[in-house]
Amino acid sequence: MPSFSSLPGFRDFYPEDLAIRSHIMAAWREAARRYGFEEYDGPPLEPLELYVEKSGEEIVRQLYSFEDKGGRAVALRPEMTPTLARMVGARARALRKPIRWFSLPQLFRYERAQRGRLREHFQWNVDVIGEEGEEADAEVLAVALEALRLVGLGPADVVARVSDRRLLERLLLHAGVPADQLPVTYAVIDKLDRAAEGKLRERLQAEAGLDRAAVQEVFGIFEHGTLADLGGAYAGVRGVDAEVDRLTRYFRNLEELGFAEFVTFDPRIVRGLAYYTGTVFEIFDRGGKLRALCGGGRYDNLLGALGGVELPALGFGMGDVVLAELLAERTLLPVAATRIDYYLVAITEAERGLLRRVAQALRARGHSVVYGLRPAGVGWQFKDADARGAAHVMVFGPEELVQGVVVVRAMASGKEERVPLQGLLE
Ligand code: HAM
Repeated sequence: MPSFSSLPGFRDFYPEDLAIRSHIMAAWREAARRYGFEEYDGPPLEPLELYVEKSGEEIVRQLYSFEDKGGRAVALRPEMTPTLARMVGARARALRKPIRWFSLPQLFRYERAQRGRLREHFQWNVDVIGEEGEEADAEVLAVALEALRLVGLGPADVVARVSDRRLLERLLLHAGVPADQLPVTYAVIDKLDRAAEGKLRERLQAEAGLDRAAVQEVFGIFEHGTLADLGGAYAGVRGVDAEVDRLTRYFRNLEELGFAEFVTFDPRIVRGLAYYTGTVFEIFDRGGKLRALCGGGRYDNLLGALGGVELPALGFGMGDVVLAELLAERTLLPVAATRIDYYLVAITEAERGLLRRVAQALRARGHSVVYGLRPAGVGWQFKDADARGAAHVMVFGPEELVQGVVVVRAMASGKEERVPLQGLLE
């Protein structure tokens, strides 16, 4: 017999795994609800060209793409943002702005398998479209942190590292990076935490055509740990003061929203995707052991490029894989709770018909009810009830039925109660 296993990087969700995923998704939905975001979805398969233009080289290399039977070039969605841009573009006029939408898509990327990176994952996407001010940026990062707080993670566990491409652009131009080399330079800077500095210096020379002095200037930017420090060092450089002011207002907003302790300025954050134009952020575990839990930022030109409408936009994606790892590490995963409300036990076969009637009456009231699907000994039925995590066992015996009652036992306390059948069946 052939043995089948799942493809590398794809997961089977056994019930205990799905319970974790549901726990995470419930927190995502609850945070979105508290912040007034509406849920949407799109197709998992999209035209290939939706990603080729704007997402950037890295994601295009990882596409699951093929030709369908109608000869179309298609791809499984590797991210949600292009679909969102297309959908909003098609109805932009009719939608109330700013648009506040969220989604929980499963995404597919042909990645090199490593810790925290699979070939499919679920990603909570939250986006605001049609607002350019920094209050929107603060609101979006706040909802991401809210969800993490809901699953029990605090500022000692996670940190949002925040920057702004508009500020970095000013600093890079000042360092001598030509405007047309900014995209390559961002791609190299995005690797700062994951590659040796020497290698990246070489790449800046080879790929962005920078000389040694310019490379030195670029790396000088990252020596400033705080926004105030950086703002002081580059005060008066064209455009820098205004960008520092904008970020300062953004941080003040986050403080007023109660998230100051979660957030830190970090000029090394640029994000790997090509379309970001403004604030950018990534959320990490404080220990710095895991990959990013979440990444996002402002992409003010993407709606114009993919949706045909000029609308400022921003948002983030938070994946389930790294978050589940962090929750496991912090022992914050949900403990298996009671799974069913009532397990019905029949002492003899004669009670099974009545048992089924009562099961339906209880189910109609919204209770979860299970009974053994074939006659079995009472001891076996109680064991089964226990193994399935029943909160109550309801016993149908010949003597009690004569008296018109059933015995209900609460499994946790062992307390028993005689309950009239009449009331149960009504
Ligand atoms: P991203 O940084 O590519 O952004 O992904 C966001 C998050 O999804 C990552 O921080 C990570 O937690 C998770 N993730 C990404 N790839 C994988 C993978 N192969 N395996 C497991 N988890 C993964 C985006 O996708 C943007 N479209 C987010 C966005 C929305 N920006 C604005 N709006």
